[in-house]
Amino acid sequence: MMRVALGIESSCDETAAAVVREDGTILSSLIYSQIEIHKPFGGVVPEVAARNHLEKIDELVKQALQQAQMSGDQLDLIVSTAGPGLIGGLMVGVTYGRFFAAGLKKPWYGVNHLEGHALTARLTDRVSYPYILLLVSGGHSQVLWVEGLGQYKRLGTTLDDAAGECFDKSAKILGLGYPGGPAIENAAQTGDAQRFKFPHPLVGQKNCNFSFSGLKTAVRQQVLAMMNQNMQFGHTEHNENTALSLQDRADVAASLQSAIAAVMVDRTRQALQEYATHASALVVAGGVAANTLIRTALTKLAGEYSLPLIAPPLRLCGDNAAMIAWAGLERFISGHGPEDDGAPRPRWPLDPTAKLPSGLSERYAK
Ligand code: KG4
Ligand code: ZN
Repeated sequence: MMRVALGIESSCDETAAAVVREDGTILSSLIYSQIEIHKPFGGVVPEVAARNHLEKIDELVKQALQQAQMSGDQLDLIVSTAGPGLIGGLMVGVTYGRFFAAGLKKPWYGVNHLEGHALTARLTDRVSYPYILLLVSGGHSQVLWVEGLGQYKRLGTTLDDAAGECFDKSAKILGLGYPGGPAIENAAQTGDAQRFKFPHPLVGQKNCNFSFSGLKTAVRQQVLAMMNQNMQFGHTEHNENTALSLQDRADVAASLQSAIAAVMVDRTRQALQEYATHASALVVAGGVAANTLIRTALTKLAGEYSLPLIAPPLRLCGDNAAMIAWAGLERFISGHGPEDDGAPRPRWPLDPTAKLPSGLSERYAK
């Protein structure tokens, strides 16, 4: 009999539940996004997120089981995201999962959300260990050497903002709304990526670290400069959202997207130079992995080192519960068991031994 796990995800602004089988079949995967609720605030409000997780979780779990045509007692394992993330949301998913499992007398695991992203390529493509992982999401930008289950060596991280944060903050400056990644990608389609020469932070350095806050600043300066110019030429709008022409906006979006892609290629190349000969693949994960330009650039890069680029399908790039169920299943089946008691943890690095890049305070460590 193939084993089956129920996964529960609630670490940020998606409430998700999924049922996954050990052969990688996703029997159901439901995602309830709170994006519309947080939109007016331009970002995720933790208390609002926690309350909405609480309201939705029971319904989602029941729907996930129904779609999978399974009853609770046919499950072998219940898995919740226990960190890293917003503590209120994590507590909802962990508490719900624990009680649900206890009621069924089934084992429960609390897993690392980042491990979920890291192992998605094994769920979808059966990628074998070891591999190089570029994890780029709203909260993280890291390059990792995935040696095996639970064995992660962090090769680089961001010194300031995460890649997704750069997309999100820049989109806000451009008046493109939240979440910024898809909005920038969309606006960039009609833009000229050559028009603005945005900085390429850390490019050329002999490590895999990232820095994105300077890019966001460059976008702000460019936008302000163009707004000033527009006003001098008699435009009366002073609103950040309207003082830019659609073309200006598209050009900034395209130039920014291309700078971010170039930075990612350069930083990831550092890892490939050292590890490509031992790796089975270059894997990209996290919400930013949904970006087509970035995927294309990384495919070309991996090809230079004779490696495939494995990128999850779009619905598994962003936060979802199938990856959480899978991370739990891998631990269950391999006999590893959960990493700890599953208490919710706002911070939970995949590689606890990784040193912060020099000169960085703990506050900035992602
Ligand atoms: O992994 P994820 O769903 O949540 C976190 O764990 O952070 O990633 C969300 C991030 C957001 O910053 C969003 O703007 C970004 O992924 N994102 C994108 C795209 N789709 C989502 N960034 C660039 N291009 C996209 N198409
Ligand atoms: Zn995520």
